[in-house]
Amino acid sequence: MTATMKAVLCRQLGPPQGLGIGEIAVPQAGPGQVRIRVDACGINFPDILLVAGRYQDKPPLPFVPGGEVAGVVDQLGAGVTGLRPGQPVMAATMLGGLAEYAIARARDVEERPPALSALEAAAFPGVYGTACHALVQRAQLRAGETLLVLGAAGGTGIAAVQIGRALGARVLAAASGEAKLAFLRSQGADATVDCRTAGLREAVREFTGGRGVDVVFDPVGGELFDQASRCLAWNGRLLVVGFASGTIPRFPVNLALLKGYALVGVYYGRFRDEEPEQAAANMRTLRQLLDAGRIAPPVHRVFALEEAAAALACLQERSVMGKVVVSVRGEALAAGPGRGGSKQ
Ligand SMILES: NC(=O)c1ccc[n+]([C@@H]2O[C@H](COP(=O)([O-])OP(=O)(O)OC[C@H]3O[C@@H](n4cnc5c(N)ncnc54)[C@H](OP(=O)(O)O)[C@@H]3O)[C@@H](O)[C@H]2O)c1
Repeated sequence: MTATMKAVLCRQLGPPQGLGIGEIAVPQAGPGQVRIRVDACGINFPDILLVAGRYQDKPPLPFVPGGEVAGVVDQLGAGVTGLRPGQPVMAATMLGGLAEYAIARARDVEERPPALSALEAAAFPGVYGTACHALVQRAQLRAGETLLVLGAAGGTGIAAVQIGRALGARVLAAASGEAKLAFLRSQGADATVDCRTAGLREAVREFTGGRGVDVVFDPVGGELFDQASRCLAWNGRLLVVGFASGTIPRFPVNLALLKGYALVGVYYGRFRDEEPEQAAANMRTLRQLLDAGRIAPPVHRVFALEEAAAALACLQERSVMGKVVVSVRGEALAAGPGRGGSKQ
């Protein structure tokens, strides 16, 4: 194996357009770590925040972005058991995924489900893991309840729509524009609302017969959070997942008192550290849902490694329906839906 590899490098903080390709040393797996020969890397909103220097973690420059990969096990660090070289896997890496080889903690590496291509597997663990933790542990969503998903055509949003449906909830999906609403209906949403042109409160009133929704899944924040915080039913749960709008909302706590609902924080990375056994159990549940065809990651567009900046920019431009994936070696691209193509 050559000692160097191609990687996407963030040399200065700023917009994704500042990313470049470089040749750097292939990383070595340390104790408890696994080196993965990367086929595909899923793009997530936190990648944009990391590259802009606006994420809670601030890695030293230069760094390789890319938080979620699919590939095969290439090297096992000391003490790693239960995985073997050549095994197809998917993994959360936090950083380093936009490269020919990436390092992950062994406990963040999962066998790739046979139902998923490499491109789909790279679009799976982070957003489905987040949505599952949010809906199951944090909201304790029950069959027959109503669920409002904001940013529903995005990565965490579409996972929440699919998992919410699989758990037996009725799902109202909110997104911008008719194309996204049609996509959401094709993904199983019971009803949709265009938050550019319609009010959330009216849509929720109609969807729930005036009662309000039991659970809100909010990865957007800002003005939409303000509207959603007035849409909850008695005993409701408002999940704080993220702030894709760029605005962290302020919350009048009397609303929670008057309407008898709970504001519940969701932090999937910390959950995996604090409760690894529960996180592994969630992954088993997700695999069952995958095998039963109840959930499936929709890969909207695929880019080559050299086009990683454009892949991140897509998310920023809000043009994505589902997930964007970078095919690191071209082989996954050849086997998948094609550059810029759609799997819908
Ligand atoms: N808490 C956790 O553990 C956790 C885990 C993963 C991600 N997150 C966070 O969740 C948020 C969403 O992540 P994601 O992967 O779902 O992102 P995504 O795929 O980019 O989807 C975000 C959605 O937000 C909407 N949006 C509204 N204003 C926007 C703006 N100014 N820029 C971009 N999108 C905007 C867009 O929907 P419309 O265009 O249809 O309105 C978009 O589809 C991020 O803040 C991320 O950091 C949190």
